[in-house]
Amino acid sequence: MTTTSESTEHHTPTGTARLLPGAPVAEAVLAETADAAARLRSRGITPSLATILVGDDDASAGYIAIKQRQAAALGFASPHVHLPATATQAELHQAIARFNSDPAVHGLLVQYPVPGHLDYDAALQTIDPDKDVDGMHPLNMGRLAVGLPGPLPCTPAGIEALLAYYEIPVAGREVVILGRGATLGRPLAMLLAQKRPTANAAVTVVHTGVPDWPRYTRRADILVAAAGVPGIVQPEHVKPGAVVIGAGVRYDGRRLLPDVDEACAEVAGAITPRVGGVGPTTVAMLFRNAVRAAERANQ
Ligand SMILES: NC(=O)c1ccc[n+]([C@@H]2O[C@H](COP(=O)([O-])OP(=O)(O)OC[C@H]3O[C@@H](n4cnc5c(N)ncnc54)[C@H](OP(=O)(O)O)[C@@H]3O)[C@@H](O)[C@H]2O)c1
Repeated sequence: MTTTSESTEHHTPTGTARLLPGAPVAEAVLAETADAAARLRSRGITPSLATILVGDDDASAGYIAIKQRQAAALGFASPHVHLPATATQAELHQAIARFNSDPAVHGLLVQYPVPGHLDYDAALQTIDPDKDVDGMHPLNMGRLAVGLPGPLPCTPAGIEALLAYYEIPVAGREVVILGRGATLGRPLAMLLAQKRPTANAAVTVVHTGVPDWPRYTRRADILVAAAGVPGIVQPEHVKPGAVVIGAGVRYDGRRLLPDVDEACAEVAGAITPRVGGVGPTTVAMLFRNAVRAAERANQ
């Protein structure tokens, strides 16, 4: 699912922790993606990320426009279908099916949210898993679980890339994730426990079933907030010197309310900024997934 935290602005916290903005990570991922796209074009293949928008939500239309500009900058094609707010579930599935069967389309996303009468999750399940640039199709979750190649869920992959970019050791260290949601906590746990140099961590996942979760977060070398509960992570939940990744957010209108309280920067050794942390890496991963899908389709 492509969410709304797509701003690249970031604020400086008052504390002493090293800041970990997502924008340079995203730039590095996009530069690699542009190189991969150029290699494909030299073989006569234009990588393509298709988008579907349902309805007239201004913010959603804006996010599509950002992706189309990014696609153009990377040398991608970006075919787009705009369905009216009155579109039926069947019409949405037909639009997906047309992109699924088009060999020139390598990646496909449906902009979230869709109008309330439509079932977004049901639509996602009709996307060809090999074109699922959000990496959220159940088959891709299964591939992640067993370690098969396939599109990775964007926010978890973005967090792994952010840790790698800032050379934060993960292997052998204790990672605690607050939240086991399907888009973030659960796939991130699978990703960071994989046997790879940028993962290979001891991962613990805590949630509402673990009322004394601070007992776990206080011992984390790397704490990832993925709950969507504003201010849930307070300084007393953080081990001094730990790395804190704030991925969970809630929106109050257009105002972003992060899980991680600003004061955590006084305790952490390194921390993502309140705005412009994980979000920019998520968007970059869409394009990395799309170019990798194009490579796999043209091996
Ligand atoms: N930055 C980005 O680009 C990006 C991308 C995707 C998602 N997100 C954000 O990440 C957050 C999580 O997304 P999601 O889809 O995984 O959400 P979700 O499915 O709602 O999961 C939230 C998780 O947090 C846990 N939780 C909630 N309140 C808690 C509490 N008081 N104590 C302990 N655990 C608590 C829940 O526990 P239970 O399972 O026990 O209910 C659940 O596991 C959201 O804020 C979302 O906006 C950000």
